[in-house]
Parts: sequence; C-alpha cells; structure tokens
Amino acid sequence: MFRRPLDFLESLPVHGDLVEIRLGPRRAWVACDPRLVHRILMDPRTFDKGGPLYDRLRTLMGDGLVTCRQDDHRRQRRMLQPAFRPSRAADCTRVVTEETEAVCRGWRAGQRVDVTAEMLALTTGVTSRLLFSDSLDAGRAAAVRACLAVVVRGLFVRTVVPVDALYRLPTPGNRRYRHAVLRLHTLIDAIIAERRRGPSRDGQDDLLGTLLEAAAGDGADAPTEREVRDQLVTLLLTGVESTAMCLASAFGLLADHPEAERLLHDEVDGVLAGRPAPGPGELERLVHTRCVVTETLRLRPPGWLFTRITTRETELAGRILPRGATVLYSPYLLHHRAASFPEPEQFRPERWLPDRDTPVPGGAMVPFAAGSRKCIGDALAMAQATAAVAAVARDWRLRPVSGPAGRPRPAATLGPRSLVLLAEPRARARARRTATAQSPAPRAAPHHPRTGFPMGR
Ligand code: HEM
Repeated sequence: MFRRPLDFLESLPVHGDLVEIRLGPRRAWVACDPRLVHRILMDPRTFDKGGPLYDRLRTLMGDGLVTCRQDDHRRQRRMLQPAFRPSRAADCTRVVTEETEAVCRGWRAGQRVDVTAEMLALTTGVTSRLLFSDSLDAGRAAAVRACLAVVVRGLFVRTVVPVDALYRLPTPGNRRYRHAVLRLHTLIDAIIAERRRGPSRDGQDDLLGTLLEAAAGDGADAPTEREVRDQLVTLLLTGVESTAMCLASAFGLLADHPEAERLLHDEVDGVLAGRPAPGPGELERLVHTRCVVTETLRLRPPGWLFTRITTRETELAGRILPRGATVLYSPYLLHHRAASFPEPEQFRPERWLPDRDTPVPGGAMVPFAAGSRKCIGDALAMAQATAAVAAVARDWRLRPVSGPAGRPRPAATLGPRSLVLLAEPRARARARRTATAQSPAPRAAPHHPRTGFPMGR
C-alpha cells in the first residue's frame, strides 16, 4: 500500500467485495464493490468521517466541513451552501478565464512549461477570489502552494502508516510537515485579521464575508473564531489542490491522446468562434471538453482514497464490523473496474457523451463521492475545469517532451506532481478555422443523464 498503492488497490477485488488489509498496526476494510461503497456513502451516520485520513486532516482543517462529524454536518453545510449555489459556478467562468490568461501570458512558443505548477497557480487565483474576493498576492500564493506540496505528501504517509509516535520524532520531514501546517494557519489568520481591520465591505459577496457575518450573530449556530479559520483552510486547500490535479492530469492525458486533443480544439474553435473566453452560455456547449474533464476524473480521480469509521457494530458484505472499525473506499479502484467501464485503462472521453445512454451503476463513478457528504464544490469544479481546459486549448497545444507520462505516484491526492510539457501556440490554426467555423448545436441539459453531474449551469 505504501510503495505501490494503485497496483495494490487494483489487486484487491479478486479477494472479495470487502477485503481486510493492514495499515501499519491497524486492521482496516476496503470496500471494492460499487454497491457496497454506495451503501457506505448513503449511511454517513454509521460510516462517519474518521479513520487515519480524517484523524490527520483534523490537525490541519480542524472540524470544518470536510472533516466534521455527521452530527454537526447539517449546520455547517447549510452555512456554506449559499456560496456554492449553481449561479456562482456559472459566474466563475469569467474569473477562470482571467486567471487562465494571467497564467498563459508568461508562456512562450517552444517553452517547457511545468503544467502542474501553472495549474496550481491558476486554481489558487480562482479559489482565493471566491473565498476572499481578492487574489492572494504573489508571495502568499507561492507560500500556500509550497505548504500544500509538503502537506499532501505528509498526509499520505500518515494515512497508510498511521503510527502517531513516528510523526512525533524530530526528523526533518516531520518538522517540515509541522511547519507547513503552522504556516497555513498563520496565513489564513492574517487574511481574516486584515479583513476585520480593513474598510467595511458590507454587501461583499464572498465566503469570508458570509462567515464573518454569521460569526457576528448571537445564535447557537454561529461559528466561532476558530471555525471561521477552519472553514477557510478547508475550502482553500480542497479548492486549490483537487482542481489543479484534475487539470494537470487532463493536459497530460490530452498530450498523449492526439485524437481527443484534436476534437477538443475543433470544439473550442467552433464554440468560442474567436471570442476570448467561454461565458456561462458557452459552457454547456463545450460537450467534448466536459467529457475530457469527466474521463480525467474517472481515470485519475484527484481524491483517490478515503477513510470512514463505524459508529456502531454493523454488518457489511456478510461481515460483522465492530464499532470503531476503519473502512476505506477508493474512487480509483472503483473507476478502474472492467465490470463498470470496459477497457478501464483507456482514456476515452466519448464514454460520457450525453447520447451514450448505458447507465453507470450507483457507486461506480464517484469522483465527488455521493450522499450528504458529496463534494460541495462539484458544480464549481466542473465549471472551473471545463472553462480552464477550453481557455488554454483556445490558444495553446501542450505537447509531450518525451514519451507518455505514465501513471502518477499518489500522495493525499492523485495527479502529476510535476508535469513538464512543451507549449505551442495555436494562433495560426485558429485563424484558419474561425473563418469557416460553424458552432455545433447547443445541447442543453442541466444534469448529465449518465453521471448526474451538473452540466455547467
Ligand atoms: C476536481 C475537483 C474536486 C474533486 C475531485 C473533489 C472531490 C471530493 C470528494 C471525493 C469529496 C468527498 C470526500 C469523502 O467522501 O471523504 C469531497 C468533499 C468536499 N469537497 Fe471536493 N472536490 C473537488 C473540488 C472541490 C472544490 C473546488 C471545493 C471548494 C472550493 C471542494 C470542497 C469540498 C468540501 C467542503 C467537501 C466536504 C463536503 C461535505 O462533507 O459536506 N471540493 N470533494
């Protein structure tokens, strides 16, 4: 599990639907069957957030929305949900386009670009504007990214080898991890303090404003000072990291699949027809672009392994699990099952075309999980990733430097930690095409008929 986690996970289903493994000294059970995972996700009172991943995440995110126990979940979700209403996901296309242009402005023809670093810069810009209305200044944005890199690596080790004593040792790695956590907290505290000191921003429609307003209330549900920070750390980290990994994986896969890339360029040229950016109206017409994002989330789900803890003795797949048992589910494992997806190792965006109506069984495609703990940012992430892929593809091809990139080695998230591709401008090709472009007919559908994912607005 530690050395070759993806191979290890893929080897499990032959042993049954629920497989007992060891995580360091602990026993744990991996649910390998989509129906079991569906049951776990639909019963969060029995399978609550806990286990080695969430125990560790709590030292970073406190008891914010990702990590909180089920008994406080409804209150927190109600408080944050307004910031994630569907119209916000559509608004975000303008912000994404501006941030994408800011990132791509530095690229030159023939330059080797670290796509992972660039996508992290892009999602840091977008997420910070959603949370605080302002982009983080360059120094703080770089500090957030540096801390993230340390934290996602450290979290993985601490999840698969959950031996607390090991991480209390004063080793350089442990010191780096503790320093990164502390630095993130300090950065967020400074942002909150600046907003409090600064001029009144009444009516400012950002998440920090919503949280501070709620904290000023005297109701029993009002968040404490500590919770305001926990929620900001939670949303900044989840928003930045997962979406950046999805984007970096998408460009890596496109570079290795020229036909999918050609279809993407044709669609982007047709739909944008020379305009600088996809607006909300264009988003739902970027059908192939969206399929590229969905297929990337299937093949390389950024959230690839999650833990739960049983709150009572319960039966699962014919086994009686005691209270306090660690249960794992892996979107990666489920998305790579041939029974759910023929030729699961192949990158085939067309699997997700709305008119291919073979339904995906419940629990088989869970990049954003399911049930009441489903990702609150799913629509935002889909809109953001679709708009960013289109905005980059409008002007640039990203070509492999050497051979195919291969499978990334996972940390707390899955994605290429440093993917270097060659930037080629598409200006000439686009000029040729826009002269003859015919936009494809819009296919409006608010939710994808097969995945149930929001379709853009
Ligand atoms: C491609 C991008 C993303 C992916 C793949 C992703 C994936 C996930 C997954 C799998 C979960 C459930 C974890 C579990 O079952 O233990 C989750 C939860 C969550 N995600 Fe995301 N996420 C993404 C983007 C975002 C964004 C952009 C935000 C916010 C800015 C966000 C905020 C959250 C929060 C707050 C939760 C906890 C929800 C709850 O328990 O009510 N995510 N995400």
